[in-house]
Amino acid sequence: MRKVFPINDNWYYKPEFSSKDLLCEAEECKASFEKIELPHTNKELPYNYFSDKDFRFVSCYKKWLCLPKECKGQLVFLDFEGVMNYAQVYVNGTLAGSHKGGYTGFSLNISDEVHWDKENEIAVIVDSTERPDTPPFGGQIDYLTFGGIYREVQLRFADPAHIESVFVKTEDILSDKKRMCAEVSLQNINDAGYTLEVCLMDGAEVLAQKQAAIDENANLAAVELSELECIALWTLEDPKLYDVVCTLKKNGEANDEVRERVGFRQARFESSGFFLNGQKIKLRGLNRHQSFPYVGYAMPRRVQEKDADILKYDLGLNVVRTSHYPQSRHFLNRCDEIGLLVFEEIPGWQHIGDEEWKEQAVQDVREMILRDRNHPAVILWGVRINESQDDHDFYVKTNETARMLDPTRQTGGVRYLTNSDFLEDVYTMNDFVHDNGYGKYLQKVIKDYKTYDNIQEIDGETTALRDPRMVTGLDRDVPYLVTEYCGHMYPSKRFDQEERSVEMALRHARIQNASYGDEHISGAIGWCAFDYNTHADFGSGDKICYHGVMDAYRIPKFAAYVYASQVNPEEKIVLEPATYWTRGDRSTGGVIPLTIFTNCDEVHVYCGESLLGVYYPNRELYPSLPHPPVVVDRMEGGWGSKWTDAEFVGYWKGEPVVRRTYQADPVPTFFEIHTDSKTLVSDGDTWDATRVVFSVTDQSHQEMPFFQEPAVIQVSGAGQLIGPSLVSSVCGKVVFWVKTIGQKGTMQIEIITPRLKAPVCQTIEVK
Ligand code: GAL
Repeated sequence: MRKVFPINDNWYYKPEFSSKDLLCEAEECKASFEKIELPHTNKELPYNYFSDKDFRFVSCYKKWLCLPKECKGQLVFLDFEGVMNYAQVYVNGTLAGSHKGGYTGFSLNISDEVHWDKENEIAVIVDSTERPDTPPFGGQIDYLTFGGIYREVQLRFADPAHIESVFVKTEDILSDKKRMCAEVSLQNINDAGYTLEVCLMDGAEVLAQKQAAIDENANLAAVELSELECIALWTLEDPKLYDVVCTLKKNGEANDEVRERVGFRQARFESSGFFLNGQKIKLRGLNRHQSFPYVGYAMPRRVQEKDADILKYDLGLNVVRTSHYPQSRHFLNRCDEIGLLVFEEIPGWQHIGDEEWKEQAVQDVREMILRDRNHPAVILWGVRINESQDDHDFYVKTNETARMLDPTRQTGGVRYLTNSDFLEDVYTMNDFVHDNGYGKYLQKVIKDYKTYDNIQEIDGETTALRDPRMVTGLDRDVPYLVTEYCGHMYPSKRFDQEERSVEMALRHARIQNASYGDEHISGAIGWCAFDYNTHADFGSGDKICYHGVMDAYRIPKFAAYVYASQVNPEEKIVLEPATYWTRGDRSTGGVIPLTIFTNCDEVHVYCGESLLGVYYPNRELYPSLPHPPVVVDRMEGGWGSKWTDAEFVGYWKGEPVVRRTYQADPVPTFFEIHTDSKTLVSDGDTWDATRVVFSVTDQSHQEMPFFQEPAVIQVSGAGQLIGPSLVSSVCGKVVFWVKTIGQKGTMQIEIITPRLKAPVCQTIEVK
């Protein structure tokens, strides 16, 4: 039987490499290398204002291990989940293999290189430079790829005859009697007597089971389970998962077993929209980069899972695009568990390289699909280089490869081109047309400087999304999905002036409204979920693109509430006035028009003691949104009049269900720590981490948008701080992650700011 050992602890790292490092003995190496745990970033970076070249170098990772005697006679594999960007793996000084591309994993059979009777040395030379021979590199890209062995590694032992991979296809989904077929790739079936048993399980309960004989020398076997009754569908509300256990047996004895988690669901893009299990669903999503402050891509399972939770539960999304590459297994697993659909794509950004480069991109299609085709959450494969030019032969090949490896899913390929060569099943389009008139305004400003102050006169381009037929140039409707909008058209920082933050939100709202209003658009996935680090050629000069509806710490901007407020009030009531509630932060003062993102039926607005009015969702401006925002267009008093407290009371089904109050005279009042998890796990292998949010809020617990005072963070006990210990607050918040250090016990977090006499403390248990 196979045995799997995660090997993420006790690695040794050196941020450079010379051939001498391969020869250096264990003790000598251990003294000069740094001891680390995986996932690991080759270089911790500041939050912003660093050089985008800082992590582009070749480094060396080493590990020493003895093999368990009971596995002797089995094949030995090393499985890497993600090494950025090119890895060469040496085992006991011999090159065991190499891998190009940092977003998919690879396995190496190291059976010939290992010793069973003494310690083995694994050395990984990691090239984190932007090698132009490997996607996404060769041109400019608007994100950083960071470096290192940034995902997990395991050691796997298997009998010579073993299962290589399992692909479970679920069929007849909408019938009472469903079917599934497990296609199993096999290795070294060199004689007769092998059988394959496939078992469908719901927890510990066996629902169906079948055994089939395997032909001698077969490298593929398929077992179908049919007439499956009482199978719950995988839906967004109840994403039911089952296990499929495939056991390879020789003369009745098990010699390998693989367990895959699956869901029964049907996902189809039609010209009339997207259908899940035959039911039309408007896709409402955002793009996600997998990066985090300081550590780039290297975050462990809990943090990856939390991102999926944030997208589903905090932002109310039903789909995410893993722009622009395959993302962590943990993130995708969580999407399966919580019912968050995924559009996954190959690495790339605008640039297409030479033939060798293209072959690598086709290989990326293979590796992505082979890795992820059992995830029910994945509904579409992106098989183009994001926003590249048409390239007929190349994209015929990526499409063919995808369809061959997974005939159950449709393909898309993200472009910004109109009339593009439509080789995929879904025309996936980045539609950046909406600029709320700014483009025309700018042209006029440039032409006639005098019109500069008269924005009112400008007849702006307010189109939110283009008509799909206009984009495709086809005389028929085809499956169509908007895969990006907003982004660079209107970046906004969390600490921007109120007007700018509000306008960013309104653009997201206008575009979502347009998507809901066009039955031929399957949905719209905005740019983007979280602010991200980028190259000097992009962003705000500090190596950040402030395009997220949340900042890089996953703290919401007003735009986040456009999405959050679209959820059914039965699930969650949302009431988020897009205001700092100040007399003088906006141009000309005041706070109107004041947009309130809410799913309430009505909002009662009070200024001081008096009721200003009762306001309803604005269906005139947003006729198609499930929950249009409320717009308050009137306010009493002007510059020089007394500013008062405000209260917003949301009503649902005639009852007051939520209340938000704002102070006329806010002062820092509450200093609180919130952690995403109160318990972390030290499992003796890899590290665990959680986000910590320290908030300074006013008398009504409202955020303080311009509170920037410094804070000192101290973490002691069984944990460590990620990032610097002295930081400035942003809008009254200090956000960071803490990690385990291989010890059980408790971790103490203390934060102090100039306004506090004693630190605020929080304890995290490490089990
Ligand atoms: C798109 C691109 C994204 C991001 C975005 C910013 O063109 O696909 O990666 O750069 O622009 O708006």
